[in-house]
Amino acid sequence: MATVFSGVQPSGDFHLGNYLGAFRNWVTAQHDNDAYFCVVDLHALTLEIDPADLRRRTLDAAVVLLAVGLDPEVVTLFVQSQVPEHSRLAWLLECTATMGELGRMTQFKEKSTGSESVRAGLFTYPVLMAADILLYDVDEVPVGDDQRQHLELTRDLAIRFNNRYGETFKVPRATIPKVGARVMDLQHPEAKMSKSVESPLGTVRILDDPDDIVRKVRRAVTDAGTTVEHDPAGKPGVSNLLELLAASTGVGVAEAADRYDAYGPLKQDVADAVVALLSPVRERALELRSDLGEVERILGAGATRAHEVAQRTYARAATAMGLVL
Ligand code: TRP
Repeated sequence: MATVFSGVQPSGDFHLGNYLGAFRNWVTAQHDNDAYFCVVDLHALTLEIDPADLRRRTLDAAVVLLAVGLDPEVVTLFVQSQVPEHSRLAWLLECTATMGELGRMTQFKEKSTGSESVRAGLFTYPVLMAADILLYDVDEVPVGDDQRQHLELTRDLAIRFNNRYGETFKVPRATIPKVGARVMDLQHPEAKMSKSVESPLGTVRILDDPDDIVRKVRRAVTDAGTTVEHDPAGKPGVSNLLELLAASTGVGVAEAADRYDAYGPLKQDVADAVVALLSPVRERALELRSDLGEVERILGAGATRAHEVAQRTYARAATAMGLVL
């Protein structure tokens, strides 16, 4: 079994793209790997946050991951700040990384330009991410393109540390995540669905109520003409609807396209399919939200399990560097 680690930002607003593109695969693969899912609340502190909001979003991220079907008996689901070795190892790795290499991180450059007071934590963000991964002797880290450079840095730091202080860390591989469907914005089908997009109508959130889902799908932009064809370049809106239908029901895209000769019925079926897909998730999430004590208990148990592994790795690294334990 491969050890796999995924870090999830504490966002309460996960959307259909997260579900069909990632979460659903995680659930399917959970029995084949030794998987860690970490809600990275410390990373969230690198940008402006409201404390009450961060608390709420951290728990809500766990609610969504449980609601989509991750089984806390099978995977280790925990909150980053509850395992103190993440911060402790990050310091050791900050003393391994250089200003130069951190300054080359494109995500840092993007997030810091134009802002007059950049937090030091935003600069060291990728080192904390390296600590997340290296603590668990991880084989594979399924990350999207935007995180590749951070993963490359993680590998560099592990190799440098091993060369300098002796074999300590397993060097992880980036894996191309098995992408599920690529879900596009319903209002701007040339762009990926994302929570940061301005158009709330274009984004179906996992926990949207069914009426909202229906409304959003009905108002989805379609393309000129009336024929239903799968042609992402020429007919991005209709193609996205067909892909949504395919991903939600398991029918093939081409077969789905053959079934319709008008946009109305296609939209109706997409709306029904997405509602059917998300309803059970929403129901479980509402149950969990009404019993946050139980969610906190699950996270506590996950942290205890993660801590056992993290402690050993941290001790190995600290000892290698000459700290007296
Ligand atoms: N930086 C990642 C993101 O924004 C989140 C993350 C934190 C992560 N630690 C990680 C991802 C470790 C993978 C492995 O998406």
